[in-house]
Amino acid sequence: MSIVFEGAGLTVDTPDGSRVVLAPTTLELAEHRIAVVGANGSGKSTLARMINGLVAPSAGRVLVDGFDPARDGREVRRRVGFCFTDPAAQLVMPTCAEDIELSLRRTVKDAHLRRQRALQVLERHGLVDHADASVHTLSGGQKQLLALAGVLAVEPSVVIADEPTTLLDLANTRRIGDLLLGLEQQLVLVTHDLDLAARCDRGIVVADARVVYDGPAAAAVDHYVASVPA
Ligand SMILES: Nc1ncnc2c1ncn2[C@@H]1O[C@H](COP(=O)(O)OP(=O)(O)OP(=O)(O)O)[C@@H](O)[C@H]1O
Ligand SMILES: [Mg+2]
Repeated sequence: MSIVFEGAGLTVDTPDGSRVVLAPTTLELAEHRIAVVGANGSGKSTLARMINGLVAPSAGRVLVDGFDPARDGREVRRRVGFCFTDPAAQLVMPTCAEDIELSLRRTVKDAHLRRQRALQVLERHGLVDHADASVHTLSGGQKQLLALAGVLAVEPSVVIADEPTTLLDLANTRRIGDLLLGLEQQLVLVTHDLDLAARCDRGIVVADARVVYDGPAAAAVDHYVASVPA
């Protein structure tokens, strides 16, 4: 999967002038697992959201397999699965099975087959006993797992996860972390979990709307830690 930032940046107009949310950034993301770390408000989510067109750059462009998310949204969304911090942002149907069926609606046209496929997906993620349960009865970790299952169900080529373990306890952090790092697909992982970040192949540190370090993930984590005053 090829993700290219060609001077992509975002400046927004504010009442007191303009504000740089992400300075023009040139990057090629080709490694299997890429971590993005940095302080609150540094620009990590903006960077991640540009990859699937949730945010459009005001300068430069992003290309995903040659497609521009701002122009060819449909092509890009077929390739890129986006996992939000709060699974409630993604889980919109009453029951777990219906939620997975919603994810599958474009790829599996037959309703009966779609239901079967949804149950298989739930089985794979240990959630099949909850198939007809309300999404609201799931624990936080189970909701995160269900949201991720819905993203993976349509077999994207790359998974973007924006703080997928932030709301989770230790056991679920490990479970979701292991699942993400074990994916065959390319992964772009925005996280404050530095242990998880260090297990990636490449690490990008964002500070004050800029990429300030780009290299091996463990070294990127060290760079970020060293940048924070004791
Ligand atoms: N559309 C926008 N208009 C104005 N400001 C924005 C917009 N999008 C983001 N920002 C601002 O840009 C900065 C970077 O936001 P971003 O969400 O990318 O940070 P982040 O690194 O993901 O932070 P966190 O770790 O808290 O999630 C923040 O100060 C945010 O308020
Ligand atoms: Mg963020």
